[in-house]
Amino acid sequence: MATILGVESTCDETAASVVIDGYDVRSNAVASQAELHAKYRGVVPEIACRAHVENIIPVLRESLATAEISLNSIDALSVAHRPGLIGSLLIGVTAAKTLAWSLGKPLIGVDHVHAHLYSVVLETNQAPPMPAVGLVCSGGHTALYEVNDWLDVRLIGSTIDDAVGEAYDKVAAILGLGYPGGPILDRLAEQGDPKAIRFPRSLLDRDSLDFSFSGLKTAVLYHVRGVPRRGESVKQEPNPTIDPQGLADIAASFQAACIDVLIRKIRRAAGKIGARSIIIGGGVSANRGLRAALTDFEVPVFFPPLRYCTDNAAMSAGLAHICFDRKQFSSLSLDAITYSQFLE
Ligand code: KG4
Ligand code: ZN
Repeated sequence: MATILGVESTCDETAASVVIDGYDVRSNAVASQAELHAKYRGVVPEIACRAHVENIIPVLRESLATAEISLNSIDALSVAHRPGLIGSLLIGVTAAKTLAWSLGKPLIGVDHVHAHLYSVVLETNQAPPMPAVGLVCSGGHTALYEVNDWLDVRLIGSTIDDAVGEAYDKVAAILGLGYPGGPILDRLAEQGDPKAIRFPRSLLDRDSLDFSFSGLKTAVLYHVRGVPRRGESVKQEPNPTIDPQGLADIAASFQAACIDVLIRKIRRAAGKIGARSIIIGGGVSANRGLRAALTDFEVPVFFPPLRYCTDNAAMSAGLAHICFDRKQFSSLSLDAITYSQFLE
């Protein structure tokens, strides 16, 4: 039984968490920067990096205080060291290394995307039968994985343009609804008719496990502001004639298109690898429509508890427990890496 202090700073959340035995979450401190980035409708790397510097020590203190544990009782430090924004990653990696070195405890670097998949184990201690299809869907990623073991995760498909969460954020911006767009559109969709507008579903080639969401986003843009004539650019202002029901119908129809594509690709992937279960993680795994649509799927589907869908450090501290058990430690020369290992 190991107690691991995890650190997360890959994008715009500064987080620290104490997890025992890979699932028993004793604290989950998260400092969100959403407000800082809201007016830019997306994450500004330089602002994110500076905010991590300010937040990292208070967040570490909070995670230890909530867990009622001292630094000396920690068995290892974990940090999500890839993929992410380089400036952001460096803050978490440096903090975790410094603690590991000064305490004389092992350091464990984990992949943030793999950790999103592992988040289904947190608190629940459930064990999805493997091989599983893993889907990580967030603001930065939409990718399918063959998961044979928590440390044997193979990329089998990914988006060729926008991530699905990014499409939610952009569509919310088009509709003038605020940031992040996912939770807003998810709520709005419940009041709308998913069949009101037939938005396109991009499935790419017959066998493809890749995704494309930029056409769907553009279809929403044209629906709202009109298709520009040749040589003209699209109108800048949202169409003032959209009434509340019209907005809800757009949200529901957009969400239906996203869910339809995600489920069809999951099914394709499951058939290809003979999956015994499906594991879904990342910010978009909080989506109520997606959860509802997968209740009666052919094989069991595992979602994380809601608080572990978006970025947090508990998922990396949990996954690091597997590494700890197998004595797979990182050296103090661990690097921050902007991309996932599969692209190396
Ligand atoms: O995992 P995450 O915190 O950060 C990344 O690694 O990207 O995911 C954030 C993304 C945002 O794009 C947000 O709009 C989306 O997850 N999101 C949702 C929902 N909650 C968050 N998308 C759809 N429905 C939701 N309920
Ligand atoms: Zn993430």
